Amino acid sequence: MDYKELLENARKALAPKCRVCRVCNGAACRGELPGSGGKGTGESFVRAYEKLSEVKINMDTIYENRGQDTTARLFGHTFAAPVFAAPISGMSSNYTGYFTETAYNECVVGGTRKAGCSAFTGDGVSADFFEGPLSVVKKAGGMAIPTIKPWDRDTVLEKVQKAQEAGAFAVAMDIDSAGLPILALAGRPGAAKSVEELAEIRRGVKVPFILKGIMTAEGAKKALEAGADAIIVSNHGGRVLDHSRAPVEVLPSIRKAVGDQMTILIDGAIRTGVDVFKVLALGADGALIGRPYVTAAHGGGEEGVALYTNKIIGELADTMKMTGCAVLSDITPDKVDWEK
Ligand SMILES: Cc1cc2nc3c(=O)[nH]c(=O)nc-3n(C[C@H](O)[C@H](O)[C@H](O)COP(=O)(O)O)c2cc1C
Repeated sequence: MDYKELLENARKALAPKCRVCRVCNGAACRGELPGSGGKGTGESFVRAYEKLSEVKINMDTIYENRGQDTTARLFGHTFAAPVFAAPISGMSSNYTGYFTETAYNECVVGGTRKAGCSAFTGDGVSADFFEGPLSVVKKAGGMAIPTIKPWDRDTVLEKVQKAQEAGAFAVAMDIDSAGLPILALAGRPGAAKSVEELAEIRRGVKVPFILKGIMTAEGAKKALEAGADAIIVSNHGGRVLDHSRAPVEVLPSIRKAVGDQMTILIDGAIRTGVDVFKVLALGADGALIGRPYVTAAHGGGEEGVALYTNKIIGELADTMKMTGCAVLSDITPDKVDWEK
């Protein structure tokens, strides 16, 4: 199977819910939620793609060639590249029901592992949205990251406990799900949490704790104060707030605000290894990719996910080659420019 064949298979499995566009930029699925689109006008998803496209790379191939090493050390583990599959749930409500939650996560957890990377798993209103994927995390020896919605304290801590029993090497919370229409529609909305509430939850977590859905320098400082080990600069793929800034736009100011005190991951319209290079240059330690993994799983199962992940790693290495970067720490801010 090649990537072209994967896309053709995915188009059949995902029609009519996702069109598997040539570029997954939020234009065709604007406002389709449930579905693959963004909230309201869908502008937040579209902007995430556009702003990332405006970042341009500075080419220079006069340097001593030492090859390229894309490996990254994060949360105590070494990965083939700092690339993760983002948590995606709602296989029936958002997509065609081709996969159960468990089967989808078998593809992404297994496929990213095959390529030497890792995945986040998701959560939702019904218990099996969390527990099904968690059984996959357990089978994978804990080598994936369960992501818990901002439920009430007791529910969160109960889920943290289950994640730790499954051996998960880290636990995340998508704090921005306070704005997720799907939870509100089901009568179980997520809610904002204070620094003190988050700090209390943090004390109940024995592994690295990651807060997903941070979009301001102030928010990043509060996450740090609450004791989070890492944040994910993310607007949930544009699904929680219309007309929000693009994650890549706010990344440099967030890195400046927290310095080296936190690991910073980012997601939002990252599609290629070239995009991964851009966000690493602008201050991220790693990237999550969402919708393209839905395509990869529907188009080729676990193999498709491994194929897509290897494609990303290859593109990252190629971009490093064209910019004189031998290792990830060589990917510094001067390697990119914003388009004027
Ligand atoms: C259909 C769908 C379901 C999602 N489910 C979750 C979820 O359960 N938990 C979560 O933290 N994020 C969820 N997200 C957000 C993604 O993890 C990620 O932040 C976003 O998709 C990144 O943007 P990208 O898809 O453009 O790469 C979901 C996104 C989509 C499109």
